[in-house]
Amino acid sequence: MIGTPHIHLETVDSTNRYARDLLREEPEEGTLVTAAKQTAGRGRLDRRWLSGTGENILASIILRPPRAMEDWGGLPLLAGLAVTRAVRRIANIEAHVKWPNDVLVEGRKLCGILVESGGSANRAWAIVGIGVNVNQSVFEGEYRLPPTSLALESGRQQDLSSVLAALCEEIETLYLVWKRDGNTAVLTAWKSASRMIGRRVTVEGPEGSRAGRAIDLAEDAALIVEWDDGTREPVYAGDVTVREELA
Ligand code: BTN
Repeated sequence: MIGTPHIHLETVDSTNRYARDLLREEPEEGTLVTAAKQTAGRGRLDRRWLSGTGENILASIILRPPRAMEDWGGLPLLAGLAVTRAVRRIANIEAHVKWPNDVLVEGRKLCGILVESGGSANRAWAIVGIGVNVNQSVFEGEYRLPPTSLALESGRQQDLSSVLAALCEEIETLYLVWKRDGNTAVLTAWKSASRMIGRRVTVEGPEGSRAGRAIDLAEDAALIVEWDDGTREPVYAGDVTVREELA
């Protein structure tokens, strides 16, 4: 069950790193590691994840996904979708997913997701790291996207454990669907929770920046982009920015 057992730490370098070390002890699937404070919170693309102490959700969930690895690209999308459902339920906030792993409210970043995975075929593991800004109202430092929190969006403090419980429930529901049916249903729901499909995007990858239009998700959860030269390609990594259309 997602969220059981639950290990809560006051301070840790990174809950993802802690969860990874825990793999040696053969933890149950669904084991949840949370922390009040991370001293080296990890983001995608070797970035840092900053969070005020005790104000936000800093969580890592250990999974042993039973499906072929081709489907695993759906896991970060599943996690983001679960966050949108949890925050709608708890705080009545309409959040959107942005490929591959952000949850935004009107362009402001509410949550980041970092899925790390490894292991061999029958002992493969995934650690789903989720940072949700819940009660933080002051954000210092530099952010690629303007940060926000549930408290800022809803105008009131939220109960961290209620948000965490809702999040675990939503992940549980979607993970059961994913385990049974693979990516299809999760990706369809993700597209409805996103404002990206059909929009013009810029993709910043290792080879520079390229413009096109996000047209769909592939079955393996890649973002299919039609570049400005008319060719179509699945995108697997990089930063995607949705661009405003000129009227
Ligand atoms: C991103 O937006 O780049 C992903 C951020 C993921 C942050 C979470 S916080 C809990 C877990 N532990 C980490 O070190 N990172 C993830």
